[in-house]
Amino acid sequence: SPQTYVEIFEVGPRDGLQNEKRMIPTAEKIALVDLLSRAGFKRLEVASFVSPKWVPQMADSAQVLAGITRASGVSYAALTPNMRGYEGAKAAKADEIAVFASASEGFSKANLNCTIAESIERFLPIIEAAKTDGIPVRGYISCVTDCPFDGPTPPAAVADLAEKLDALGCYEISLGDTIGQATPESLTAMLQAVLAKVPAARLAGHFHDTSGRACDNIEAALALGLRVFDAAVGGLGGCPYAPGAQGNVATEAAMARIESLGYRTGLDAQIINQAADMARKMRESA
Ligand code: HMG
Ligand code: MG
Repeated sequence: SPQTYVEIFEVGPRDGLQNEKRMIPTAEKIALVDLLSRAGFKRLEVASFVSPKWVPQMADSAQVLAGITRASGVSYAALTPNMRGYEGAKAAKADEIAVFASASEGFSKANLNCTIAESIERFLPIIEAAKTDGIPVRGYISCVTDCPFDGPTPPAAVADLAEKLDALGCYEISLGDTIGQATPESLTAMLQAVLAKVPAARLAGHFHDTSGRACDNIEAALALGLRVFDAAVGGLGGCPYAPGAQGNVATEAAMARIESLGYRTGLDAQIINQAADMARKMRESA
């Protein structure tokens, strides 16, 4: 019987690089994206139209989107925290955008300088404009099990926010273990609460590997029906506003775990390894 497809959404050029201290030349980012474009991904997150005062590394997002060679069938995604970011992403011809909220107030304040409710208010015009412009919107929720400021996150807080983003029109909601503290047990409890409100087909897992449990957490989420996972080649990454946040689960590790469980990712292992090398070298030259 044909194997079930599990999609890995490559976020390395965004989540992987945003935290790097060295200002990575635009040409290096473009080279990484161009290599990743040949690996078999359907979606690549490559840009972030946030304040350059907050995240200087993403200041060249428009140049990255302008400089890459777009592969057909690949959607190039960008983060947009506000309307200004949306206008930037649209002008740069991002194929899809993402709004990002937090399930905890402490991280919302640290990352977006506003409350959760205020962040939703900011997303409304973005989602409205994107609908008019025919640009799909993904939604992120950070700190789905643990917050670096507020401690453990109640599953109901995640479920309520997921339901809200789903109702607003986000086509998929990516659940972020921002600081890599989830266990398969805490993750499962959170997912069960969310699944009561949003079907697995519209959810994704976004796990950072701070504690080395990201692959186990992918496995727990697979068991509950999730079929999309965010990852970053070479395990790069971390959020500058989440103390202790480390890299995303490495794409190569996620791919190996997912395929070992009998699923198909459709990714070219040789290109993934090449891209992981490239990504690690980008960090080493720091
Ligand atoms: P603020 O300081 O409250 O708002 O920041 P502001 O409106 O006063 O803006 C500050 C300055 O930035 C102003 O410039 C604005 O013009 C400018 P000034 O007047 O001082 O010269 N500005 C912008 N510039 C370019 N593009 C924009 C933009 N907006 C304002 N879009 C703001 C509020 C939302 C802007 C800020 O908090 C911000 O940019 N935050 C983003 C933080 C971020 O990018 N974090 C990482 C991504 S999230 C993540 O990694 C988690 C995730 O991976 C999932 C997970 O792991 O959990 C997705
Ligand atoms: Mg992240």
